[in-house]
Amino acid sequence: MCGIIGFAGREEAAPILLDGLERMEYRGYDSAGIAVRGEARGLQIRKTKGRLQALADLTHGGADLEGTLGIGHTRWATHGEPNEVNAHPHVSENGRVALVHNGIIENYLEIKEHLQKLGVAFASDTDSEVVAQLLEYHYNECGNMMEAVGRCLRRIEGSYALGILCADYPDTLIAARKDSPLILGCGEHGSFIASDVTAIIKHTRDVIYMDDGEIAVVTPNGVSVFDDELVPVEKAHSQVDWDVSAAEKGGHAHFMFKEILEQPEAIRRTLSPRLKEGRVVLEGLDLTAEDVRRISRIFIIACGSAYHVGVVSKYNWEKLLRRPVEVVLASEFRYCDPLVDENTLVMVISQSGETLDTMAAMREAKRLGGRTLAVVNVVGSSIAREADHVLYTWAGPEIAVATTKAYSTQLALMNLVGLYLADLLGTVSGEEYRAIVAAAEALPGQLEQVLGHMEELQYAASRYFNHSSIFFIGRNLDYAVGLEGSLKLKEISYIHSEAYASGELKHGTISLIEPGTLVVALGMYGPLFDKAMSNVVEVQARGAEVLAVTTESRLEKMGKTAGLTAAVPDTHPVFQPSLGVVPLQLFAYFVALQRGCDIDKPRNLAKSVTVE
Ligand code: F6R
Repeated sequence: MCGIIGFAGREEAAPILLDGLERMEYRGYDSAGIAVRGEARGLQIRKTKGRLQALADLTHGGADLEGTLGIGHTRWATHGEPNEVNAHPHVSENGRVALVHNGIIENYLEIKEHLQKLGVAFASDTDSEVVAQLLEYHYNECGNMMEAVGRCLRRIEGSYALGILCADYPDTLIAARKDSPLILGCGEHGSFIASDVTAIIKHTRDVIYMDDGEIAVVTPNGVSVFDDELVPVEKAHSQVDWDVSAAEKGGHAHFMFKEILEQPEAIRRTLSPRLKEGRVVLEGLDLTAEDVRRISRIFIIACGSAYHVGVVSKYNWEKLLRRPVEVVLASEFRYCDPLVDENTLVMVISQSGETLDTMAAMREAKRLGGRTLAVVNVVGSSIAREADHVLYTWAGPEIAVATTKAYSTQLALMNLVGLYLADLLGTVSGEEYRAIVAAAEALPGQLEQVLGHMEELQYAASRYFNHSSIFFIGRNLDYAVGLEGSLKLKEISYIHSEAYASGELKHGTISLIEPGTLVVALGMYGPLFDKAMSNVVEVQARGAEVLAVTTESRLEKMGKTAGLTAAVPDTHPVFQPSLGVVPLQLFAYFVALQRGCDIDKPRNLAKSVTVE
């Protein structure tokens, strides 16, 4: 979704802003713009609809704009269509204030009408312009920009990350945040604001995470942070522990492919510090056996692929913990009057840690007295900071919109959490415990094996890439993996796809199978393998072609029935989905490649969904 960068420094701002925006392109956007304040030319604004390249062309790579202070924005339209006028930065009527905004101003219409009655003319349809106009109004009132920002923030309702320039302040940028991420960066050649660390990692790893209600003054010499009453706040600096190459393609055609290949390493990084001498050690999770015994109910809440991790985890956790586990889409949970009390554990899964629905659901769970534990990839993100406990997946930056390595690390980490809780509860035998730990230790190596054999998937993709509809079937954990395989395929290849629990086929969906339909049949889950085989035969009898994904030990049997097969190594059932999902990611990737799709930035999708 929208991206913000700002710079106050000793170098020309425009090229830095354009580069920062380019590094956030993956988040999804439909227009872009920059504002630079120069000594000679004052505030200069340039905006374009569509790809960033258009903005780079318009400004000759930024060379047309003069000044060392500036803000930039990529917009993902919410209020008003994606066009040049609605693109940020927005400028106040007298041209003195320019700002970029992420989030949604909920009471913008009321403020807009009020200002219109006072004679203010608006240029755009956006909620964001209202903030620029309101700032000018308060600035005219009090003559001090910080004070004007304070007054303005007290009037607006909703969520915001703001970067503000004022023509009267030649070297100062003002930033503010509420419910929308914003970080400050302290670099050698100046200071930064950004909604995403990838935008500034090239310049500095020294960052400060802003908290809700804070306002920052950013100058070439550093940053100062204030609370909403404009009282100075001491803020801790953090060091980002990955470097710029982690957010670059490294010779691969797509980030998604690079990230698929990074999975063994990402899982190693996530699991190995938590496996010590055959035991699961979860720093950051200070639950006692008594705490866990009191848990009568577990919710897992998340969106999209993270929700699919929850579906796998439900199967695994219920077996391990013998406690009811409910997986609920965050967008549903927040409005369903959930049955949460102080004996409820609420697991929250999010790569970005900023997904609005997930955050709102977590807040609702906390409000009802539940204990929240978040599995998050982005350090310092809102969900990570608000959850009662947080465990990080160390997947590194994930740039492709379609998640792969974040999903995999979430899945693996959820298994460790499940095992840890089961051990505290005494619901897992010593033998089972050791078997699961051994499977966790073997996982990165087995993933490397899976990634060493892509030919079957490339071949299958070349055969089926022009199909209009593809089905995924499976039972139990295989069904849960199928949900993710189907989502991967539809989001990047735009092929219609559905995942069905195989047992449900006869209850309606089998009518969709016709001669030539591709069914991806998942047959990895040992206890139900024979039933998976029967389902393959069943769909074949209706003319379907089958690509079966199974385990090495079951390959021979499956190979006699299914047309095409791909096999992954056998492991303990709780970790089988971690291996089984990889062929599905690869299949989706190769299909999208054959179809010439924009794999890293699929249409209409954004990486981090910070609006409802
Ligand atoms: C799909 C995908 C999305 C995310 C979902 C939640 O490939 O990436 O479905 O899983 O938007 O995002 P996070 O995990 O950031 O909360």
